Amino acid sequence: MHPLVPVTLFVMSKCPDAVFCEGVFADVLQQVGPATNLTTEYIARALGSGRVQCLHGPSECIGNTQQLCARAMFPDPAQWFGFIRCQNRAWRSIPANSDACFAEAISPDPAALLAWRECVHGARGRSLLAESTRRAESAGESRSCTIHIAGRKRCVHDGDWKECDGGHEVADFVGDICAAAKDVGVSPLPAACSPSKFVLQE
Ligand SMILES: *[C@@H]1O[C@H](CO)[C@@H](O)[C@H](O)[C@H]1NC(C)=O
Repeated sequence: MHPLVPVTLFVMSKCPDAVFCEGVFADVLQQVGPATNLTTEYIARALGSGRVQCLHGPSECIGNTQQLCARAMFPDPAQWFGFIRCQNRAWRSIPANSDACFAEAISPDPAALLAWRECVHGARGRSLLAESTRRAESAGESRSCTIHIAGRKRCVHDGDWKECDGGHEVADFVGDICAAAKDVGVSPLPAACSPSKFVLQE
């Protein structure tokens, strides 16, 4: 498989900081999406035996699971991330806004909706949520939203931007992804990574 730059957003589905970060990364993906492997992981408390407690209550656990099932079943970011972006337009209504967003971003096919609902309300959804929670815990991340680029912690948005030594503009994240893309040999590089896009220094 051809190499891509991993970008992970550690989030909670009903957290305004997650909504904010996902908006920023929608802009980042517009420029360097084809070089990027975007993932969202969900911060929650693992209670053992696969049960999870979410900070914003049980409805957030459902929202997290909706988003995880969307990615597991529809890995094209235009679909699963489009679904999240649609939900975020009314994030207080997560998880209730899911069916309209499924139709808008993923598929108008009722059979696809039924299969996805089976994931959300079944064993697969439970294990996707437990696994994602475990990955966030083992990465040591507990603040939504925390951004990792190329396996390294890059920045936090928690009320405001924090710990963003490399800057927190879209162009800063694009620049980091371009640098990592060159390192891992992404080919072709997105046009946004070409040197003409940068100011040359004498
Ligand atoms: C993206 O990363 C995940 C792990 O986070 C991996 O399972 C998946 O295969 C990667 N996808 C691509 C297209 O490289």
